[in-house]
Amino acid sequence: MIRKAKESDLEAIARLHSESFENHFLPKLGIKLLSKYYKEFINDNNIFIVCTDESDNIIGLLLGTPDSSVGKKQFIRNNFLKLFLRVVKLCLFLDRDTWNRVIEYFKNVVISKVPKKKAEEFNKTLSINTLTLLSLCVSTNAKGTGVSQQLVKVFEQIVKKSGYEGYTLTVHKDNDRANAFYRKMDMSIYKESHSEYGYIKNI
Ligand SMILES: CC(C)(COP(=O)(O)OP(=O)(O)OC[C@H]1O[C@@H](n2cnc3c(N)ncnc32)[C@H](O)[C@@H]1OP(=O)(O)O)[C@@H](O)C(=O)NCCC(=O)NCCS
Repeated sequence: MIRKAKESDLEAIARLHSESFENHFLPKLGIKLLSKYYKEFINDNNIFIVCTDESDNIIGLLLGTPDSSVGKKQFIRNNFLKLFLRVVKLCLFLDRDTWNRVIEYFKNVVISKVPKKKAEEFNKTLSINTLTLLSLCVSTNAKGTGVSQQLVKVFEQIVKKSGYEGYTLTVHKDNDRANAFYRKMDMSIYKESHSEYGYIKNI
């Protein structure tokens, strides 16, 4: 069954995210902080849906947002001390991913001219009103079963009903399965960095 995500789902959502994105940055924050990260996205501005099995276990999640920086900034503001201590610890352990995030954060927040310029460049390439698909993952057992396709189909219906003309997402170039999946879902590459592809779909 596909339904809207609710606050009581947050721990299961964080666990599924951690299992799915093992070597990424967010799982390094731990389940509690990751739950708080997702909490910031449960509101009417975003499309946050989950797929559950017959026992109501969450086996898939999809989060779409008009502006991912809103939820991310709220998360940082509301959890600053815990997040700061966690990030310092990871930096002391010389976690490369964390260092990259810290550098990126300072580029975007402290040197405020950079994101404006970036946003202008980004918007120039898009002539339609789009939403960003920020997170999509399914449990190991649900891979290849059609759960992710169902989630994307329901998401696309809500995107359309909400008046958007399409949606975008970014994915690591070396995530072969996800790249094959998005191509199968008729998405096309519209931008590229050294490590990521940006996909778009008009609906
Ligand atoms: C990305 C994800 C949601 C896709 O769901 P899925 O159920 O695995 O997707 P599907 O099996 O329907 O489609 C994947 C396709 O890639 C193919 N594939 C599987 N492994 C592959 C690999 N290593 N290289 C290339 N293609 C691969 C599959 O055969 C399938 O194609 P087919 O249906 O034509 O046979 C899921 O794999 C997932 O949760 N991954 C971890 C989280 C993640 O990476 N999310 C996306 C980041 S934005």
